[in-house]
Amino acid sequence: MKRTLSIFITLLFPLGAFAQEQKSFWDDPINSPMLPLYLVTTFVFIVIILVGAVALYLIKVLNMLTEQAEKERAQKLGVVYVPRPNWWSRFSQKMNASVPVEQEKDIELHHSYDGIKELDNHLPPWWKWLFYGTIGWSVVYLVVYHFSATLPLQLQEYENEVAVAEEQARIFKASQPQEAIDENQLVFAKDAAIIEKGKSVFMNNNCASCHRNDGGGNTIGPNLTDEYWLHGGDVKQVFLTVKNGVVEKGMPAWGKVLSPQDVRDVTFFILSLQGSNPANAKAPQGELFKQKAIASDTTNAQASL
Ligand code: HEC
Repeated sequence: MKRTLSIFITLLFPLGAFAQEQKSFWDDPINSPMLPLYLVTTFVFIVIILVGAVALYLIKVLNMLTEQAEKERAQKLGVVYVPRPNWWSRFSQKMNASVPVEQEKDIELHHSYDGIKELDNHLPPWWKWLFYGTIGWSVVYLVVYHFSATLPLQLQEYENEVAVAEEQARIFKASQPQEAIDENQLVFAKDAAIIEKGKSVFMNNNCASCHRNDGGGNTIGPNLTDEYWLHGGDVKQVFLTVKNGVVEKGMPAWGKVLSPQDVRDVTFFILSLQGSNPANAKAPQGELFKQKAIASDTTNAQASL
């Protein structure tokens, strides 16, 4: 039910579903669709409590009357009135089956160590029943979880939940508008929104672990901020390097993991780093590539291919 509901909500608000918290009842109790249900539940609870209280009171009165009657009968018969133990004390005596102090002599074991004696007490019934209960439960558990596999074990349960989450993520992704991206038509623009998205792709996909947070490069990955490129520095070439990787040199093929949009965004982010000159950047590798048009036009620059 909860699952269906959350999928439903995800479908209703495809953009906000992961970013926003779901509205809780207390945000706006009066207009909440759950209000009638909660009110009825509360009312039913109150009625149950009241009925219970009245029932208890009646039982008490009834007990008082029986006690009174028994007392009178004992007086008539001329015997001493002994109050009957109530339900609770009979129950607890049955559960504990403890031997009263006066009868301890009967269960004394016949040995004494320096005056210390031992009583032959049995385990209290409540303990024994609990123990038998666990034995019964272990049989049920074995059958249900291991022989018939009716219910999932922890690992299976985990895998089921992951599968549900992946399905939700798939639905969410599918509901996002997808632009078809053709690298031959791609034109670099200093679009702040795309570059910002590209930055989060860069930070969230370990690009930084091989190319450094600022793209300056480290012992593994080359410097992405200079004008020297191993695989070409125009937007199409960078796009293709990111998409297909240079697997034999240790640069993964990101096209398998990232959507075409993500590859485009991160490509734009990388190109936006041109000339940022981070401190201690890696020495240039590859060939010089001048992004002429970008350097001259900063508002809506386009790389001439
Ligand atoms: C496991 C390390 C590693 C990761 C992670 C990694 N790269 Fe690379 N990257 C490399 C290596 C190594 C090269 C150089 C390949 C070569 O020598 O041909 C490279 C090259 C590149 C190039 C080409 C640079 C040039 O000079 O032509 C680009 C662009 C690039 N990476 C972008 C990315 C992006 C974007 C990401 C994240 C989505 C990323 N890399 C993640 C290791 C990595």
